[in-house]
Amino acid sequence: MDPKTLIAALAAEHTLPDDGFLALLTADEADGVDALLFAEADRVRREVYGIDVYLRGLIEFTNVCKNNCFYCGIRRDNRNVSRYRLTEEEILSCCAEGFSLGYRTFVLQGGEDPFYTDEKLVTIVSEIRKRFPSCAITLSVGEKSRASYQAYFDAGADRYLLRHETADGDHYAKLHPASMSLENRKRCLFDLKEIGYQVGAGMMIGSPYQTTENLLHDLRFLEELGPHMIGIGPYLTHRDTPFRDMPNGSLSMTLRLIAILRLMFPRALIPATTALGTIHPKGREMGLRAGANVIMPNLSPKDVRKKYELYENKICTGEEAAECRVCLDRRVEAAGYRVVCSRGDAK
Ligand code: 5AD
Ligand code: FES
Repeated sequence: MDPKTLIAALAAEHTLPDDGFLALLTADEADGVDALLFAEADRVRREVYGIDVYLRGLIEFTNVCKNNCFYCGIRRDNRNVSRYRLTEEEILSCCAEGFSLGYRTFVLQGGEDPFYTDEKLVTIVSEIRKRFPSCAITLSVGEKSRASYQAYFDAGADRYLLRHETADGDHYAKLHPASMSLENRKRCLFDLKEIGYQVGAGMMIGSPYQTTENLLHDLRFLEELGPHMIGIGPYLTHRDTPFRDMPNGSLSMTLRLIAILRLMFPRALIPATTALGTIHPKGREMGLRAGANVIMPNLSPKDVRKKYELYENKICTGEEAAECRVCLDRRVEAAGYRVVCSRGDAK
């Protein structure tokens, strides 16, 4: 099948046979597939969400991590990171600032930091829930027991982000130390869904050793999981990791995957990620035009932003939250869309 027929089939059926996905994923850029894919993805996105772009205020509250993922700049063994933890009061004042800037979703993201016990996290979530009853609370704190997830949910958390990173067991083992497993990662995602969270999964594009078949596995896994949110971004190298010599993922491949995901999951919340904005100055705008409908600006205090360095050259580490807010309004509008101040639940 030619790319045009494949794209039409994907838009109509929201899936393709393996050979169809593989053909789209490997299609030559010169054949013009991307322009067609982006146009279809944008059409579908406008059908469901109009030109609305939802904001999520990201609070990176700890860069301490007990894990040692080979790709990540804040991995445990990186001695060059100056580690920090925000206090409950600091987290709450990030929320307050975000609220006054129009944010109605707070994402508490951190490394897997045992300092934040379930008891502490429950206290923090409950307090945010009490002070900002109209807001969605999203957690992104890694792999936990089902009981822990249930406790955060009962305290008022609505959403949970946990990228699966790769749905292929062998590839997973090349990106992570033996102490981590794809099985547990998947268990977490299904537990979160069963508990009632809106769940976000996702993967890096162009991570070391990733093959086209791996990406196909990712798409099949996402079909099985049925996530509300799908976060993808290019892999970007970090000098203090075992992958320091591995090349960055590609902008065009990431955009192509965003468009494919929009056609597979018309109602999904798909962010134009910070990594996308880092690999190209207009990357997030391009992501929006390829089907993304969410942006996750940083609400962390300015003095810690540089310390949450998952990869090099991360954008927005020198700006205040208010500066990013103004900047984004402009960028989103220039790309042809409009920022909406609401919880931004999936339609
Ligand atoms: N490049 C791009 N993305 C990364 N992440 C972690 N390290 C990197 C990197 N070097 C992503 C992972 C993680 C999310 C919070 O950030 O997918 O789930
Ligand atoms: Fe942060 Fe533009 S979004 S400076």
